[in-house]
Amino acid sequence: MKLAALNGSLRKGSINAALIEAIRRMEIFEVETVSTVLPPFTPDLADDAPPYVLAFRERLNTADAILIATPEYAMGIPGMLKNAIDWTVGSCEFAHKPTALITCTSSGEIAHPALLEVLRVLEARVTEDTALLLNHNRAKVRPDATFVTPEAEASVRDVIEALRQLCTT
Ligand SMILES: Cc1cc2nc3c(=O)[nH]c(=O)nc-3n(C[C@H](O)[C@H](O)[C@H](O)COP(=O)(O)O)c2cc1C
Repeated sequence: MKLAALNGSLRKGSINAALIEAIRRMEIFEVETVSTVLPPFTPDLADDAPPYVLAFRERLNTADAILIATPEYAMGIPGMLKNAIDWTVGSCEFAHKPTALITCTSSGEIAHPALLEVLRVLEARVTEDTALLLNHNRAKVRPDATFVTPEAEASVRDVIEALRQLCTT
């Protein structure tokens, strides 16, 4: 099964990129990271979107499930990620799609519930079991895509297993 992974961080050495790689190594899904670097969203172009946006939507459409792995920036959702999500509001790629959210960040108290609300509005299939606030991220995931503690690994594996189950129901 194919998993489209969106990373809310563009940073070299991103812990979220390491987390996505760790999930790829679990071999529960075939993981493809989909770039969120898209032009600024405007509703004027929502129905006549540029090619990059069409390709982005197509990758989400053809995936069995979507994973968002993201930090919180300035107590909010990273702008590039929110911009990419905004491009799907009219075209509905998240609607009824099994979706996991892992907010892998220092704190995440604001961005995590905010993203859950966005996903709810978009009618994504996200459950309690496919949402995880992985705070104090540097004490849990290493840049080499290994986990610092067995508990951290188990919590992430449980989310991805729950996502797989969501795909079969
Ligand atoms: C500009 C900036 C703002 C940040 N603001 C927050 C924040 O509000 N809450 C939080 O949990 N972490 C915040 N962080 C820390 C990030 O969570 C942390 O650096 C995280 O590892 C970034 O994700 P990445 O490693 O995938 O790039 C901020 C980092 C930067 C660079």
